[in-house]
Amino acid sequence: MKKILFNLNQQEVQIINCEHVNDVFDSVSSDIKYCVLADKKVLEMHNSLREKIKNNNFELYEIAEPEGEKNLNSYMEIIDFLNSKSFRKNDCIISLGGGAITDLAGFVSSTYMRGLNYIQVPTSLLAQVDASIGGKTAVNHGNIKNFIGTFFNPSKIIICSEFLKTLNEQEYLNGLAEVIKHALITSENIVNKLIDKHDQIINRDPATLLEIVDESIEIKANIVTDDFTEKGKRKFLNFGHTFAHGIESTNLSDPILHGHAVIIGMMMALDYGKYINSSDNNTHKKSLELLKSFNFDFSKIKLNAKQIVSAMQKDKKNTNTINLILLKEIGSPYILEEINEKRLVKFLDNFIENFEK
Ligand SMILES: NC(=O)c1ccc[n+]([C@@H]2O[C@H](COP(=O)([O-])OP(=O)(O)OC[C@H]3O[C@@H](n4cnc5c(N)ncnc54)[C@H](O)[C@@H]3O)[C@@H](O)[C@H]2O)c1
Repeated sequence: MKKILFNLNQQEVQIINCEHVNDVFDSVSSDIKYCVLADKKVLEMHNSLREKIKNNNFELYEIAEPEGEKNLNSYMEIIDFLNSKSFRKNDCIISLGGGAITDLAGFVSSTYMRGLNYIQVPTSLLAQVDASIGGKTAVNHGNIKNFIGTFFNPSKIIICSEFLKTLNEQEYLNGLAEVIKHALITSENIVNKLIDKHDQIINRDPATLLEIVDESIEIKANIVTDDFTEKGKRKFLNFGHTFAHGIESTNLSDPILHGHAVIIGMMMALDYGKYINSSDNNTHKKSLELLKSFNFDFSKIKLNAKQIVSAMQKDKKNTNTINLILLKEIGSPYILEEINEKRLVKFLDNFIENFEK
């Protein structure tokens, strides 16, 4: 068991590794009431968990469409459900599902009676290495993703790599994109490990997964601990993401997986670093080889330089510049405040032409 200290009120978050899905609730004490907010599909795929929830006398609230139900209507329904079961401040919510459930359950936990106990059991790779770490909770509102939310940490995050066996390939790769991103912004040793263990990663070898997931969690946790409110180095977690948001915005009519856009976004950032002579050849070559070595399906992604840059312009938060995270070297990210949008469009036109060949 690891303990990670997050910077929000110096709160301690325990990371617990658990080998088998059947054992995920073993570290949960039984002297308070629990409600499991669960992805219905995950329960169907790991059927024994229903029995476990029942035997432990936990309340169960099932969510059939996690992203579709990450909104204020579901939030209110869950609040009413908890109230009808007389949940009070000392009781506990357990999230069991991917990032959409993690975000929704976190938002409920942080606001029900101004906050009750919260434990996460992230079941997708993306949720294990990204959404569960860093305390961001959210619901979507109108057409805007993650429009309403809070910062709130769970007391425990229970990581079980057996869940990852049932993810479909593209959902698995969706999470792997964040694992690769964490490695590229942190250290060449970790990148080398991903290259060396490529086959075990593809085959979802449980021991390898536990190792890379733990390492990835540690990377994000360290960054978040140093910069909980995203004033400084937490921005490096946006490596590939400024381009990715542009790509996602131009594919709204047939939405694509975020991780796939992030992989293309990282390729763009690496090529752009080379284009403006700010990254070394080894970084460029090695990183691109790693990104291309997995079977990401980009077939339905549409790329249009002008539209991507126009979406990136809208994305600019408080500044007049487009903030790009680039790599000087593997493990050395930096922020480029790009004001030359024409240069960006020209670069992207060229990138897209080569990408689509
Ligand atoms: N809070 C944060 O810091 C943060 C960071 C990144 C992403 N997010 C949020 O996370 C969400 C994306 O996460 P996600 O990709 O896990 O989405 P998700 O929860 O929608 O899960 C993706 C799909 O995988 C399925 N699934 C989950 N676990 C499974 C398992 N073990 N076996 C088989 N299928 C399984 C789900 O039913 C769903 O169909 C988005 O809502 C995003 O906004 C939050």
